[in-house]
Amino acid sequence: MHKRKLIDSHGRVIHKLRVQITDACNFRCFYCMPQQVQFTPSKELLSSSEIIDICSNLVDFGIDEMRVSGGEPTLRKDFCDIIRELSRLAVGRLGVTTNGFILKDILPELKDSKCQNINISLDSLDQNTFKKITKTDYFNKALESIITAQRMGFHVKVNMVILRGVNDHELFDFINFSAQYGVEVRFLELMKIGPYYKNHSQLFVSAQELIERLEEREELEPQSVNCDSTSFNFHTSSGAKIGFIASESQPFCGFCSRLRLTATGRLRACIMSEAGINLRGIDKERYPDILQSVMGMKPTERIDHIKQPMYQIGG
Ligand code: 5AD
Ligand code: SF4
Repeated sequence: MHKRKLIDSHGRVIHKLRVQITDACNFRCFYCMPQQVQFTPSKELLSSSEIIDICSNLVDFGIDEMRVSGGEPTLRKDFCDIIRELSRLAVGRLGVTTNGFILKDILPELKDSKCQNINISLDSLDQNTFKKITKTDYFNKALESIITAQRMGFHVKVNMVILRGVNDHELFDFINFSAQYGVEVRFLELMKIGPYYKNHSQLFVSAQELIERLEEREELEPQSVNCDSTSFNFHTSSGAKIGFIASESQPFCGFCSRLRLTATGRLRACIMSEAGINLRGIDKERYPDILQSVMGMKPTERIDHIKQPMYQIGG
């Protein structure tokens, strides 16, 4: 059978799915969540078999790439089971976005799965700044996970959210880190998502500003990327591989190819909008109508902000 394609009302081919499997996290990154936070009780989350059923159905309708996220997805006890089952689906790529806390211990299991694309968040290379941002002492764990995953041959990307006056002085430390370990580092503009959307301008640094700072010391060689890539990438003269995710200053909504499944089973159209439709317990026969409705919810213009924090949306 010719596989169906999902095409939205603006002609965009939708083929990627972000699969949020929990909103719980053991870090407290200040721009992502408040210190006191209530997570969704585990019994309200989709079970692993519900996740697999929904994802399997979505593959039949045109999804061919998935990334598992949270919260912190590895906190789920059945995380490796979920990855193993998702690996059986007809997806070309499977990835995970993680804070790296548990990751190192489960890398051998992941190595035997389809999940070879690992994005690890690391907002600082300095233990104290890391603690200031994440409110945890797990810097070394995150770092070890990154280095081990890279050595084991995974496709590793380090995600660093750049925050003025907090970690933006570490730009060249990250360049050196990338050159030293051969790991790709991506600098993320802070998005107007969650607790900081109102004070966003105090912390925000644009990708353009970073590029200008870099160009004082480095030559940047642009790399080609897919049109629906969220980042634009460079190799630097000192041997670093870097990317910029300029979601605020240069939104890429026009090329968006994603849908999102939340940890409680809602299919949503956009990171910036809570609009969506529940898929939990829904028969596959009803998917075409639901998918068409959700596709109709996909905006073309960038929505300015969302009060809902990232850990509830799924990164
Ligand atoms: N802006 C940009 N990135 C964010 N993340 C969480 N909140 C924000 C925000 N407001 C990042 C995390 C992680 C990824 C899942 O999203 O740092 O790298
Ligand atoms: Fe956890 Fe990621 Fe939010 Fe940090 S940004 S608190 S690691 S969900």
